[in-house]
Amino acid sequence: MCGIIGYLGDKNAKTVLIEGLRALEYRGYDSAGLAVFDRAGEVFIRKTEGKVKDLERYSASLSAEYSSGIAHTRWATHGEATGINAHPHTSSDGRVILIHNGIIENYMPLKKKLESEGARFQSETDTEVIAELISKFYESGRLIEAVASALANVQGSYGLAVMARDMPGTIVGARNGSPLVVGIGDSCLSIASDRNALPACARRIFYLDDGELVHLGAEGYRTISLANVETTKEVEDFHREIQHSDRAGYPHYMLKEIFEQPGTIADCYRGRILPQEGLARLGGLDPLDERLHDFRRIIITACGTSWHAALVGEYLIEELAGIAVEVEYASEFRYRNPIIDAHTLVLVISQSGETADTLAALREAKMRGAAVAGIVNATGSTIAREAGCGIYVHAGLEKSVASTKAFTSQVIALFLFALRLARMTKLSSDQGIRYLAELVSLPRKIENILNRAEEIRAIAGVFRGKSNCLYLGRGIQFPVALEGALKLKEVSYIHAEGYPAAEMKHGPIALIEPDMPVVVVASRCGVYEKVISNIEEIRARRGMVIAITTEGNEGIRRHVDHVFYIPEIDEALSPILTVIPLQLLAYYIAVAKGHDPDMPRNLAKSVTVE
Ligand code: M6R
Repeated sequence: MCGIIGYLGDKNAKTVLIEGLRALEYRGYDSAGLAVFDRAGEVFIRKTEGKVKDLERYSASLSAEYSSGIAHTRWATHGEATGINAHPHTSSDGRVILIHNGIIENYMPLKKKLESEGARFQSETDTEVIAELISKFYESGRLIEAVASALANVQGSYGLAVMARDMPGTIVGARNGSPLVVGIGDSCLSIASDRNALPACARRIFYLDDGELVHLGAEGYRTISLANVETTKEVEDFHREIQHSDRAGYPHYMLKEIFEQPGTIADCYRGRILPQEGLARLGGLDPLDERLHDFRRIIITACGTSWHAALVGEYLIEELAGIAVEVEYASEFRYRNPIIDAHTLVLVISQSGETADTLAALREAKMRGAAVAGIVNATGSTIAREAGCGIYVHAGLEKSVASTKAFTSQVIALFLFALRLARMTKLSSDQGIRYLAELVSLPRKIENILNRAEEIRAIAGVFRGKSNCLYLGRGIQFPVALEGALKLKEVSYIHAEGYPAAEMKHGPIALIEPDMPVVVVASRCGVYEKVISNIEEIRARRGMVIAITTEGNEGIRRHVDHVFYIPEIDEALSPILTVIPLQLLAYYIAVAKGHDPDMPRNLAKSVTVE
């Protein structure tokens, strides 16, 4: 999604901004641009379709020292991915220069009105309208006031960084719904949509809240509300996360992150389990401690891969703790009329902690008086802060757009939560001890799977020339089937559907034709024999079956074309093992087709618009 970076300081702004854009690249974008002021106060704007490296090439002629500027990666919403639609946008009088993440919902009537007053627009974007509107209110030296006045007319979501041609040492930021973080250093001030993009000089940070504006200038920073009332900010020390941002010898981040999973899942449970007592300790949930006994119903809400983790969580919590769980798409939850009472807990899952729909669902739940908790990867993200309590999954920075290690860590967090609840109700300490013994065996078992990645690469070869496939699973493996299909769609652009295996005969079976690949997650479980019957239904129609099953299950070879074995594990934890071959499968298929799995077309890492 769109990335924002702004900088004032003693380093060359152009270099700092390009570095910031590189740190934002993983979020997914289709064009990029920058505006930089030289030491004499002259502004230079460059923007182009394509990648940051294209922008760098295109702006190579900007060889002076630049003291300030703003830069942007654009993920198209209104208007195609072209150089003209790329940000920064300027007002038609050239006085205001601006970058934006979000969607201005009333931009059409605003545009018409401004045109009738003489404005001339260059692009098809909603963003250009805000630049024009700010210029209308702008009196030299009073940029923040002009931005506040303009935003009073705007409906929609925004994270903005604005500069004025006659105020080269000033950046104004404004936030409503799209994240913005301010970085403070000894000789620099910066603003970004993601704290990982802040320059190295940023030692302290604060987050802008919705409806808040910030003025950055030679005199430091000040923040106000849209109603022009001064606000105070909690400034925190910024210890940059160890980024592991290079690919560490792997050809792609996606593969690197798949291979990190033995470590990342251990990072999620480390320090949180008492193996001798069969207990899980989750300090982040302490604020809910006294209420945990009272919850009769849990709603889990999320999007995409996080929603699939939520579905696994439903099985885990119901099975282990016997508490009713409903899983809702966050995008639907926010517009429904959800029934929430004092005995309902709403769990919100998000890797990025910035997904607009999930954030809106969290706010809706809080507004209705629900107890809420977040299961989040990105520390300090909006969802983590607004949830107030929850579980960090500690998967580390996930750069690949296709989420892999965050999913398995989310499942571990849900497992720990289910165990915590279960031990308060129906699970004995012996059972808890057995579950934890299984849990700590996972890293070794994941390594066993990763060591056999070549087997999956070989299976990937059978997808050559295929444009459709099915993923089937039953029970706790159904969400794994959904996740396998999503991964394949995201990075290889092959159409894939995930179904509960038994549902196939109610419709999708019509799709099966000779040699169509059908991936079946058939680990040993209560309904294993029924899964075999489903496989036979596919074989009867000459579909090609690829099975993921448990070690020792030699008998399955009679029924399938290809098989990959996972180590034995308790069914509750099996999704962690069954999903990994599916992640690898999607990766190898994408690479074989010549796609870059780290930059899938049309996708953004963090979807900060509705
Ligand atoms: O950051 P979140 O977990 O809130 O993101 C939710 C989805 O946008 C995300 O999982 C998406 O589906 C990924 N591209 C999956 O690989």
